[in-house]
Amino acid sequence: MSRYLITGIAGFIGSTLAHTLVEQGHEVRGIDNLSTGNLDNLSGLGNRIDFRQVDLQDVAGMQSACEGMEFILHQAALASVPRSVKDPLSSHQSNLNGTLTLLIAARDAGVRRIVYAASSSAYGDQPTQPKHEEMPPLPLSPYAVQKLACEYYLQAFYRSYGLEAVCLRYFNIYGPRQAADSPYSGVIAKFTTSMMAGETPTIFGDGMTSRDFTYIDNAVSANLLACQAPSSVATGRVFNIGTGESHTLNEVYAAIASVLGFSGKPIYGFPRAGDIRHSLADISRATKELDYQPMVHFRNGLQKTVAWYVSEKEKKEAAAL
Ligand code: NAD
Ligand code: UD1
Repeated sequence: MSRYLITGIAGFIGSTLAHTLVEQGHEVRGIDNLSTGNLDNLSGLGNRIDFRQVDLQDVAGMQSACEGMEFILHQAALASVPRSVKDPLSSHQSNLNGTLTLLIAARDAGVRRIVYAASSSAYGDQPTQPKHEEMPPLPLSPYAVQKLACEYYLQAFYRSYGLEAVCLRYFNIYGPRQAADSPYSGVIAKFTTSMMAGETPTIFGDGMTSRDFTYIDNAVSANLLACQAPSSVATGRVFNIGTGESHTLNEVYAAIASVLGFSGKPIYGFPRAGDIRHSLADISRATKELDYQPMVHFRNGLQKTVAWYVSEKEKKEAAAL
């Protein structure tokens, strides 16, 4: 049994990590300021986790949260490209100042290893596909700059203070518990819930924009592997976490419509500011060095995800009767 601190524990990825670690018998503490997270994501965990509603930038809160922890899975952030374009200062404060506050507390508490939710947005719009870790970064949006700067901070804390740091560059993670109720929600969550409500989703651009859509279970397994990997292999390093396959927004739309039996044709809008055009991961480093393998692929992941949103809707409707 190990002791884990999960930041952003009420969010999509953080809460899924929490459920997995609790099921495996680990001790889990979590912090979240509930800015985009939802306590419903933690239902069923009750007093099996030590949940604290606190902001990453709260120095005393982070000192107390890090006390006695062996691993930190750092997921907390304002996780949206367009939100950062609209309001760069707020996302800078949460993402960058918050991460620095956490790192100082983790260093002082003697935490063994921190695994960081980095982002493939660091690669920007370079034409080379797939993206591999040796490519120079080219962040396009304020969000991408913040996520990349945090990677550098983690590496600096490893080199300067010996705090073991692993950066996992996630490529578009989706699945159950991803919020669907905000204009900043991920595209699969938005398309699914719009179609379920009988509304036609809007594709920003021509629909040929593509992403390496990665089911949540793959990201969870990458975090667990990154905690267990020998320090000589993992620490101070960056690993892509994706599937090695990409799909266009037109394909995503058609696949979700087919699972739900939705017949409306997409509405096409303007491309979104700060967006990158294509994103595809070279996962050979994570495969070789962390023993990471994407276990759930696109069609299967999409079916599980759509089934989850449908069942949540049915539960809410039954509760309202
Ligand atoms: P999410 O919004 O569901 O979860 C983020 C959580 O962090 C939320 O619960 C939110 O309330 C909390 N939070 C935000 N700012 C905070 C702060 N200052 N103090 C405390 N808590 C705060 O997002 P997610 O999709 O689960 O993303 C988790 C992490 O993964 C983020 O760091 C994001 O940048 C990164 N990431 C996500 C994806 C993806 O496709 N979902 C891809 C690449 C990287
Ligand atoms: C996502 C993550 C981000 C992460 C990045 C890494 C979310 C909310 N964002 O950003 O945290 O760092 O992957 O790869 O999970 N789109 C539409 N219609 C919509 C919504 C979106 O066409 O209603 C388009 C967008 O313009 C974009 C694509 O879908 O081209 C993906 O958008 P989104 O799901 O917001 O993710 P990213 O911006 O790629």
